[in-house]
Amino acid sequence: MNQHVVRVSEIGRAPRAASGAHAVPATGVLLDRLARPLTDLRISVTDRCNFRCSYCMPKEVFDKDYQYLPHSALLSFEEITRLARLFASHGVRKIRLTGGEPLLRKNLEVLVEQLAALRTPDGQPLDLTLTTNGSLLARKARALKAAGLNRVTVSLDGLDDTVFRRMNDVDFPVAEVLAGIEAAKAAGLGPIKVNMVVKRGTNEQEILPMARHFRGSGVVLRFIEYMDVGATNGWRMDEVLPSADVVSRVGAEFPLQPLEATAAGETAQRWAYADGGGEIGVISSVTQAFCHDCSRARLSTEGKLYLCLFASQGHDLRPLLRGDADDAQIASALGHIWQGRSDRYSELRAQRVPDTDAGAPRRVEMSYIGG
Ligand code: GTP
Ligand code: 5AD
Ligand code: SF4
Ligand code: SF4
Repeated sequence: MNQHVVRVSEIGRAPRAASGAHAVPATGVLLDRLARPLTDLRISVTDRCNFRCSYCMPKEVFDKDYQYLPHSALLSFEEITRLARLFASHGVRKIRLTGGEPLLRKNLEVLVEQLAALRTPDGQPLDLTLTTNGSLLARKARALKAAGLNRVTVSLDGLDDTVFRRMNDVDFPVAEVLAGIEAAKAAGLGPIKVNMVVKRGTNEQEILPMARHFRGSGVVLRFIEYMDVGATNGWRMDEVLPSADVVSRVGAEFPLQPLEATAAGETAQRWAYADGGGEIGVISSVTQAFCHDCSRARLSTEGKLYLCLFASQGHDLRPLLRGDADDAQIASALGHIWQGRSDRYSELRAQRVPDTDAGAPRRVEMSYIGG
């Protein structure tokens, strides 16, 4: 059997609403098979996006005939909030709303308001954040803040308008995303992070302009290694620009000093501008995998729980939500799923035998489970 197949997320069977002797009660700490706690939940609220970034939703695949989820398949805000509350009871402290493009989901502020009311077992509010392409942010930032959103992360792959329009592939102007970032700042949705996926030969020339632009602005710019996520982007290793190169390019113009991680399981390695101009981050999932303390679970728009970004199958929670399982039973099911987790795809990628993917289950798309 192909190593890649067996090592991604467990093949999804509908979870049992576990009870009795096998129940896993919520204690605020839930560990997987590699002793990694569950602290971070990413919730995808739509599988649609108004951009067609080639590394995520290439136009040829996500065309007018592409079958998106029907509205009836989507979890309602009440269903999402119920699950989020049960995840919090197991130790989740951070919730990120993603998509697709989450701001395309109608009345998203209503969900934000419901999630903002949740508390950890020790009574703290959750860190509630959202990843967006920024296109609708100028319009929505204030309402999101008023609803209780703490901060936003904006995806932006370059400052040059021509490069940016080409990368989003819908001819969207960069100025509108920059206006969205300003609106988020003005609304108090900070600290704002900007995520730039770097593809060698496509937007690497944007690294320095991006660094210059955001240095000293209070915005934390993070460079992401282009990943082999999903099954449609035609990923090639020679298009990955290692983070070490990014750090040396930026460092040659603005000396950098390494910073300590702020939290275990963090995706980014942080670097400070030596002259006090703020910080940047690099996310090196290809050249320096960070699975060893990965604390992230992902909930798809239709209620499937994925234990790894590179999983092929999710655990379908919707039958539990729409059946007669009570909260304790659903919490127990979540506990069982996480306790069975051993995924560490990126760490295993390096050991993978090339060309063994034929016949492997198709990996889920990032637009479906979110970054
Ligand atoms: P902060 O809480 O703001 O630090 O966010 P974060 O870095 O945890 O999340 P974000 O969604 O901003 O992640 C940035 C990028 O890192 C994503 O767009 C992905 O490209 C990548 N990434 C995030 N989580 C994972 C993960 O679990 N595995 C891998 N391989 N990559 C990830
Ligand atoms: N590699 C790295 N990051 C990706 N994202 C989407 N596809 C990829 C990929 N192939 C990131 C985007 C965005 C978030 C939603 O996911 O940059 O920040
Ligand atoms: Fe949309 Fe973000 Fe994917 Fe681009 S990376 S297509 S903006 S979800
Ligand atoms: Fe976590 Fe990413 Fe590693 Fe999967 S590949 S275990 S999502 S860090």
